Amino acid sequence: MMTTSLRFCLLLLTTLLAFAPQARAEETVCIQCHGGLEGRLGTPVGQWRGSIHAANGISCHDCHGGDPTDFAMAMSPERGFIGVPDYTAVPDFCGRCHVGVKEDYLASAHGKALAEGGAQCVVCHGNHSIQKASPELINSEDCSRCHEYGQAEEIKTAIVGTDQMLADLETDLQVLARQGVTVQQMEAASFALRNDFRRVFHSVNIDRVRSETAGFLQRGEEIKQQVEAIYAEMDQRKLIGGIVAALFFVASLICYLLRKTYQQEEDARS
Ligand code: HEC
Ligand code: HEC
Ligand code: HEC
Ligand code: HEC
Ligand code: HEC
Repeated sequence: MMTTSLRFCLLLLTTLLAFAPQARAEETVCIQCHGGLEGRLGTPVGQWRGSIHAANGISCHDCHGGDPTDFAMAMSPERGFIGVPDYTAVPDFCGRCHVGVKEDYLASAHGKALAEGGAQCVVCHGNHSIQKASPELINSEDCSRCHEYGQAEEIKTAIVGTDQMLADLETDLQVLARQGVTVQQMEAASFALRNDFRRVFHSVNIDRVRSETAGFLQRGEEIKQQVEAIYAEMDQRKLIGGIVAALFFVASLICYLLRKTYQQEEDARS
């Protein structure tokens, strides 16, 4: 009885927790009103719903400001409404949260050419339907709109290689963890490597990407060697285990034969 009601409470709690952030995001007056509007005022709602921001509880007012609880005052500057940033204001707009990216971006050729048409955040990521970032964002169609694709392609090749190396490493670590091996240290090293790696793209500096890629591959190789050492040790343990089992088998066989001979002698004597 006790356990049943306890289980019910837990179920209720987890269900509520699962829906809470979504429910809170759904409740805002921004979504209620804009959801019923048409054209450029309504489309952001549907696009935003499928975005990585919606999935992480970042809603209209987190980007645009304003009061998400008050229909009448929602878009009042007094309540912090920022409105729509113009082209050159976008890096600051997004950079309120993505501080490191903004820094790297402003130091890049794109950031320096911002006022002269350098690509900024929404040119590459979009605005309302932003997804998890990946090297797929670098492609000839999007990157040759303003200049040649050549350098972009070289950057992509380097990034895809490191990305693949990291993915393989993470799979290896998951396999080891499932077998009960302690991988915290290697995981921390791989996590730090991924963070450093993800900072390199926005520089759009081919020389820097090349030289840092060499360092990333080196660091990845060091973790990989630790993984392989563990595999080798596991193989060795399996081998020793096999030998011990074989010895044990031989010993039992000898015992059995000895006992049999002894019994035959006993039988012969009686
Ligand atoms: C009662 C309906 C209503 C509510 C509530 C509402 N909006 Fe709006 N919103 C509108 C209308 C209508 C427009 C277009 C006219 C205008 O700019 O005032 C608009 C325009 C906008 C624009 C574009 C402004 C521009 O300069 O083009 C943004 C961004 C925006 N709303 C965001 C929000 C956010 C964020 C919230 C919640 C904090 C919100 N809205 C709440 C009706 C609403
Ligand atoms: C990740 C930040 C972010 C979120 C979240 C976000 N917006 Fe926006 N929104 C922008 C940016 C940036 C622009 C400017 C667009 C551009 O420059 O391409 C914009 C533009 C707009 C516009 C003007 C569109 C036009 O074509 O003139 C409206 C209206 C708007 N947003 C409403 C909303 C509503 C409603 C929500 C919530 C469902 C929302 N936004 C969520 C970043 C965001
Ligand atoms: C020229 C295109 C381009 C521009 C401009 C750009 N990005 Fe990116 N961004 C990318 C690509 C490509 C990746 C994926 C890189 C990778 O996989 O290593 C990425 C990755 C990211 C990531 C995930 C990686 C991380 O460090 O967390 C974030 C967040 C991000 N960008 C935000 C921004 C913001 C904010 C701006 C503006 C200040 C911006 N981006 C400008 C193309 C761009
Ligand atoms: C109010 C804070 C906030 C603002 C403003 C904001 N973001 Fe985000 N963004 C987040 C959070 C939180 C996540 C999900 C966690 C993460 O991946 O960092 C995220 C995720 C992302 C990702 C995916 C990162 C990845 O790991 O692949 C990109 C790309 C991105 N945002 C771009 C933008 C762009 C472009 C803008 C401006 C139009 C913007 N963000 C504005 C908070 C914000
Ligand atoms: C909206 C226009 C625009 C788009 C789209 C754009 N760029 Fe650029 N890019 C520029 C400008 C402007 C410069 C600086 C002037 C120049 O070198 O042509 C630049 C320069 C570069 C450089 C040279 C950097 C250097 O140090 O010389 C690289 C590499 C680059 N962009 C990569 C990319 C990639 C990758 C993409 C696609 C994800 C992209 N760009 C999309 C406008 C753009």
